[in-house]
Amino acid sequence: MAPHTVFVCAATGCQGGAVARQLRAFGWEVQTTTRNTDSPAAQALASIGVKVYAGDWNDAAALEVAFAGCDLLFLNLMPDMTNFPAEFEQGQNILRIANAVGVTHVVYSSGIDIPPGKSNPFRDTAFKAKKDLERYLSTAGFQYWTNLRPGFFMANLLSPKVNFMYPEAAETGRYTVIFGPDTPLPMIDHEDIAAFAVAAFQQPDRFHGQHITLVSEMVPFGRALETISRATGKNIHAKYLKDDEIDAAMAKNRLLVLQTTLKEVPVSEATDGKSWGIAMGTFERFVEREKTEFLETYRNVEALKE
Ligand SMILES: NC(=O)c1ccc[n+]([C@@H]2O[C@H](COP(=O)([O-])OP(=O)(O)OC[C@H]3O[C@@H](n4cnc5c(N)ncnc54)[C@H](OP(=O)(O)O)[C@@H]3O)[C@@H](O)[C@H]2O)c1
Repeated sequence: MAPHTVFVCAATGCQGGAVARQLRAFGWEVQTTTRNTDSPAAQALASIGVKVYAGDWNDAAALEVAFAGCDLLFLNLMPDMTNFPAEFEQGQNILRIANAVGVTHVVYSSGIDIPPGKSNPFRDTAFKAKKDLERYLSTAGFQYWTNLRPGFFMANLLSPKVNFMYPEAAETGRYTVIFGPDTPLPMIDHEDIAAFAVAAFQQPDRFHGQHITLVSEMVPFGRALETISRATGKNIHAKYLKDDEIDAAMAKNRLLVLQTTLKEVPVSEATDGKSWGIAMGTFERFVEREKTEFLETYRNVEALKE
């Protein structure tokens, strides 16, 4: 019998999927919910032995069924772009169910800290829900809790995420950004998030009560695009907005606000994950590993000129 059964939120997604696969690789039981048990992601999880239940995070009855027998929880939610506080409410409800079934350790993946004092509308909306949930978790009565604060996902430069954050980038290879080519982004490989979650479950005493910023590598944005261009042979490039162009661009595309967060993470605060002695990836290695996905994402982009 496996020593633990872990409920993994959003296992059909990027970081939850990595957590589920890494846990299954050494034989722990994994249970999750999805809104579509027929999706390729849900089917792939089922094929490696994950128990995949139909259910929505707003459906307490479905969650209670899916949580039966679980003693650990990887908590990871999605912002509702039309109702940001909903993420906090969903989180509280899931934690109540986890408490009721006797979960002993919750590893919550929230988001990198935006330093106080900077003006960033996202801190007061999407990030507020995550901060509220961090605080709630710390007093929710679990024997162990751990808070992971990942930076900018390397997978944001791949489909399907790239289409959400940079609408035209997958089709044209052109990113419109409010920072410069030398701006270092606090990049995280989702497999590294999973490695920390797994380590926390394995060593609860060491990880209990910790808030851990997770960054695999600080990568200048221009270098990230060059790396993708080299790997794919495609012309991946950026329009770097000038300061006097940013307000007008944000009025047209409010997702550009997300990028202000990236400008405001001090490098020194973005690297403490490494001090845990867990090997972390680099953007180069991420692109090598995901090369097929990069080729597929940018398949319509013109080739680099010789
Ligand atoms: N992208 C970044 O740079 C970054 C950085 C820091 C933090 N984050 C945070 O990371 C989280 C997203 O993680 P991710 O990128 O790994 O996720 P993802 O790949 O976008 O996957 C999200 C998953 O959530 C599930 N889901 C969404 N709404 C649901 C609902 N109402 N009920 C049940 N399941 C639901 C979906 O499952 P089904 O469709 O199968 O139901 C989907 O597989 C967000 O909270 C984001 O703020 C992101």
